Amino acid sequence: MPAILIVDDNKPITDLLEMILEEDSEREFSIAKCYSGQEALEIIELQKPDFIISDIKMAPMNGIELLHRVRAIDEKIPFIFMIGFADLILIDEAIKIGANDLIIKPFDGEAILELIERYLPITENEKKKARDDDYCKIDLNKFISGKEIPCSLFIKIREDHYVKLANKGDPIPVDKLLEYKEKKLKFLHVLKDEYCEFVGFNLQILKALEKNNKIDNTKVANFINYTNSILQEKTILKDLDQSDVEEIKAYTDMTLSLLKKRTTLLILLKGLADSSEYAYAHALSTAILSYLIAKEVEWDAEPTLFKVFLSGLLHDTGLKELDKEIITKNPALFNDTEKEEYEGHTTRGMEILNAAGGLPEEVILSAYQHHEDCLGKGYPLGINKQKITPISRLIACADIIDDRLIGTKELSLSHYRSSLEQILRYKKAHYDSKFLRALCTILKVDF
Ligand SMILES: [Fe+2]
Ligand SMILES: [Fe+2]
Repeated sequence: MPAILIVDDNKPITDLLEMILEEDSEREFSIAKCYSGQEALEIIELQKPDFIISDIKMAPMNGIELLHRVRAIDEKIPFIFMIGFADLILIDEAIKIGANDLIIKPFDGEAILELIERYLPITENEKKKARDDDYCKIDLNKFISGKEIPCSLFIKIREDHYVKLANKGDPIPVDKLLEYKEKKLKFLHVLKDEYCEFVGFNLQILKALEKNNKIDNTKVANFINYTNSILQEKTILKDLDQSDVEEIKAYTDMTLSLLKKRTTLLILLKGLADSSEYAYAHALSTAILSYLIAKEVEWDAEPTLFKVFLSGLLHDTGLKELDKEIITKNPALFNDTEKEEYEGHTTRGMEILNAAGGLPEEVILSAYQHHEDCLGKGYPLGINKQKITPISRLIACADIIDDRLIGTKELSLSHYRSSLEQILRYKKAHYDSKFLRALCTILKVDF
């Protein structure tokens, strides 16, 4: 039976831990408790434990010194610190001298047992590792705004290593996050599976399909670098508030990192980029503008923001099957065949996204409906405002102002402004005024 040593100068904590371990129905432990670093060393000399859980702030010997002394005797005993929010500044040092993990006080029994489960097998060479690919990072500010994101929250300590801050379903510890922000922490991490479940993006159902759509890691890394280089060039970003720019870059990064788990979709996006550099750059612009519009109209719920961003990114999926000449040609100059072929990208987009599986319905519909207009004069169906989904109406606004700038060299914010002014002058009634108005606020144009 594994021997566990609990060290804390606060007796109620050692008693609580003892109770948690004794009540674990899965495993049995032999438990030793002590109340100072010195006592702990004496116990360790007599009989080496299999696992040590220690407070970090104790006197006269604190947890850091205890760990130093333990590591001099044995480099491998799993050693976990219990740490208060205020002491997180000690994390780096604790990890540097060989702490395996940390748990933030107050903690619950499940979190302690999870850590024991993860590290006890170290002695049996069976360590379960957290993997970077299982997590995605989210802007800390999103949690500070008090927005509910019911996922467990983690801080990344180093590569493949995360410390849990709050369990799924717990209230978000806003005060503590403000302290982190002061310490220049920008991102928290959540498990991709939990985040996707929350935003309604199914990662799980089509494992068999994903297996047939493998893409090697170098290609994925190159594609993500390529995306970042496009974002770097995006002039629209240069004129936005710096905090908006950082948020958008982080959101793009997160979305692509989720798509690493849905390679079918990543391959679709890459296919769009391969068919035309313009089409992919346009997809990114549409996603960015759509995200900004959604925030401006206070669509603040995370599942909605995610669907809007993904809709922007995937709205022109159907274009990837068209010739580059058609994609980049001014639609006013199409002959009848070209017009029919081009307009088919909406229906094709919907079919492709449907087949990809696991996407929220709104995302698929926005590929189908983003060329419909509020007067019923769009395509493919010519339906009117009431029948077009709100996200499709939003995407239509972002899409049109970027699409009108095709072929414009050295785009600047003034190009976007004049594109919007033209829409307001000649086609205002065709677009949802709520979203056009939001665009006017973002681009500082009179409605
Ligand atoms: Fe389109
Ligand atoms: Fe488009």
